[in-house]
This record gives sequence, structure tokens and C-alpha cells, in this order.
Amino acid sequence: MSSSLHHLKATDFGKNFQWGVAIAAAQNEGAANQYGRGPSIWDVFSRNGNNIKGKGKPTIACDFYHRYKDDLLLVKALGFNSFRLSISWSRILPDGTGKINKEGIDFYHRVIDECIKLELTPYVTLYHWDLPYELEKKGGWTNYFINKWFNRFITVCAEAYGSKVKNWIILNEPFAYTSLGYMLGTHAPGKKGIDNFFPSVHHTTIAQAEGARIIRQLVPYAYIGTTFSFSEIIPHSDKKEDIQAANRVDILMNRLFIEPALGKGYPREETFRLTERMHLHNKEWKYIERLHFDFDFIGIQYYFPLVIKYNSLIPLVQASEVKAKTRKVPHTDMGWEINADSFYRTIKRIWSYDAVKEIIITENGSYFKDEIRNGVIDDAARINYFQQHLQAVLAAKNEGVNIKGYFAWTLMDNFEWAEGYNARFGLVHVDFNTQLRTIKNSGYWFRDFLSA
Ligand code: NOJ
Repeated sequence: MSSSLHHLKATDFGKNFQWGVAIAAAQNEGAANQYGRGPSIWDVFSRNGNNIKGKGKPTIACDFYHRYKDDLLLVKALGFNSFRLSISWSRILPDGTGKINKEGIDFYHRVIDECIKLELTPYVTLYHWDLPYELEKKGGWTNYFINKWFNRFITVCAEAYGSKVKNWIILNEPFAYTSLGYMLGTHAPGKKGIDNFFPSVHHTTIAQAEGARIIRQLVPYAYIGTTFSFSEIIPHSDKKEDIQAANRVDILMNRLFIEPALGKGYPREETFRLTERMHLHNKEWKYIERLHFDFDFIGIQYYFPLVIKYNSLIPLVQASEVKAKTRKVPHTDMGWEINADSFYRTIKRIWSYDAVKEIIITENGSYFKDEIRNGVIDDAARINYFQQHLQAVLAAKNEGVNIKGYFAWTLMDNFEWAEGYNARFGLVHVDFNTQLRTIKNSGYWFRDFLSA
């Protein structure tokens, strides 16, 4: 990847490029106990104060529920033409299934209508981690019936918003919520172990394809995608055991979900015997088809690469990370390595799958400790991160990768899951005591970049 940063211009990405910001319901909306919404796993997971740093809860968050008009004006003022939001399942169906909450349906109509009024193209994500708690009581993603429940939710959303929304994203980062939520237990619902992980993986790969088929059937001219988190996996040394450990992590983090979606089935490497673990021994061919959907676009969410070494003590993968801090390489305040060349290679790798037709960068961003001085947030490190990563997108695009858009994560500081409210990724600073919004210099940088 080459070419200098100084020449980065939004127009180089083409006339119809989608420039957006992304948010998620549980991280932004608040109004968690209001207007008929049922609790989600994140409301319950955060209740006892032990699971979230600083005892943060998503109950109020950025109060986007009440402030969406002003917040969308901000999106517009910063020069974006697209807006990615997610729908809270338990706002639409408080029990996850059963009765529809009309107030919930109306809320997203208002948000979508406002986007359309402001000429912001809405991209709607159907599942961004906030499973209705009532469904978790029945096993959540580990229960086979999740697919029935999820299909109903999607059907309700498609019927409600299909005439207004063209762009649909089925799932947000399946590896993140299955591994953190159902294997390591550090995210909601806090379940652990491979006996929870593998069923949740298999029901998720079914959900992403079946959900897409429902949208295809119910929404004429829909543009359908789903997102994946990708991290380049780099072996710590050229020792065989490190290379093999890196390959195991790569299978789980980068291939486990996209390959079934693209019609390739689960990765077949001996290491995990994945098809056996998913109990697919004899019926495999049928499942390969069931897990496959011809997606219009693939959403890439990229934050960092990982360096991996062999570690016999870690169950399943027998691998562990060599942290960016230890390696003394540039990193964000999340401890995530900053490496835009790795982003470029990741985009090229995903593009090398024959079945990938179009790519949208559906998330990319960084957390740095911001300081407000005289009302100004000079987040030069974040600006730098965006510039480098946009350069990577442009380099890949110029080499023929069909990239249609880029969504910055995220509009404003919000509820960063287990990290609570301290890890701020926004272009706009939020004072969570007063809900005051202050545009950071990175927000102004985007405004100037997009208007030039
Ligand atoms: C990916 C997730 O989709 C989003 O919800 C999260 O806030 C960002 N990564 C940053 O960690």
C-alpha cells in the first residue's frame, strides 16, 4: 500500500460512495424500560454491576430514543450521506416472540422517516447483540428454536419497514457475540464453554442465511448484506507450533462464519472437526445449502490485527495473543494495534473469495482517551487512525476491489458493552450526566474531508 496521506480526497472514492456512521440500539437508544420495550440480555447482564467496567448500564445510554432528530442533524452536518442503525428486538417483540409492541414499531418509523427527510440512506442491522432476555431464559442462541424466533422478528421488521428501507444487514459480528457471550462469558449473556459456543455458532450461521432469504422474499429490490469482524492473524514466530496456533485462531475468527455464508460450508481443517462438533456428520450437504445465501454485499468490520503464539493451557485453540503493548507497537487505548496495512491486506483477502460481489466497510474506528480543553476535543490520534485506514480502503478500491461504502464507528460516544462508558469511540463527545454533545476534531475533520 502506498501513496501519501496528504492527497486523500473523498471524491477519489467515487460519486456514489456511501459515507456513513454506524450506531447500535443497545449502545445508543436508552429508554430501556420505556414504551413497552422488554429487557434484553444486556440490561440483565449489567444489572448486578460486576460485569461492566464502571458499573455502566445501557438504560439511558445516549438517550437517542428521545434525541434522534438532533443526532441525525449532526450526522447530516458532518457531511455523511448514510446512517447505520440497529433494531432492538425486544422493543419490537418484548418477549422475543408473540405480541408486537406498536410503540416500538412506530419509533423506528420515525427514525427512518427522519433519515429519509434528511437524505441519509438508512442501513438497518437486524441483530446487534441485544437478544430479548425472555429468549435467553430458554437458552438464547444455544436453543434450536432461535431460528424460528429470529425469522419471526425479521418478518415483522421486513413487513413494517420494507417499503422504506432498501439496505439490510442481517447480523453484526457473529464471532464476537458467540465467542464473548457464549464461550468466554465476558459479554451478555455470560455463558461459557464449548458446549454453549458451538450450538450458538451453528444457529447463528443458519440465522444469517435464513434471515437474508426472508428479506429477499419480502422486500423487493432489497440490498442485503451481513457483517463480520476480521483481524489479520500473524504468527508470533516461524516455529511450526506458532504457525499452527495462528491458523486455528484464523479459522475461528475469520472463516467460521463467512465461509458457510458464501456456500463453502464450515472450514474443514482437521484441527477442530467443525462439522462433527456441529453434529452434521451425515447431513452435511443439506446444511451447506441451508447456510448459504447469495449476499449482495459483505460488511467488513476491522479494528486491529493479532499476533498469536502457541499456548497449551488455552482450551480449544491452544493459542494466546501477544499484546500490542508487549510488542511495543502503536496501539489505541483499547490496547488494539494500529495497522492500516493489515486492514488493506484484510480487504484484499475477503475480496479473494469468488462469491464476494461487493464490500462495504460497515465499521472502523478507535478509542483514545479524549481530553476536553476549553470545550475543544483535539483527538489528533483518532483523525490519524481514520486517515490511515481510509487510505487503505482507497488503495484496495483503486486495485479493483468493489468497495461501495465506509461507515465510521461511531457517531457518538456510547455504551461500549463490557467496557461501559469509558471507552469512547465517537466523532462526537457525549457528557453522560447532561447528554451534552460536543463535536470532536475528528468529527470536524470528517466534515471538511467530505465537503472538499
Ligand atoms: C464492533 C461492534 O459491532 C460495536 O458494537 C463495538 O462498539 C465496536 N466493535 C467497538 O468495540
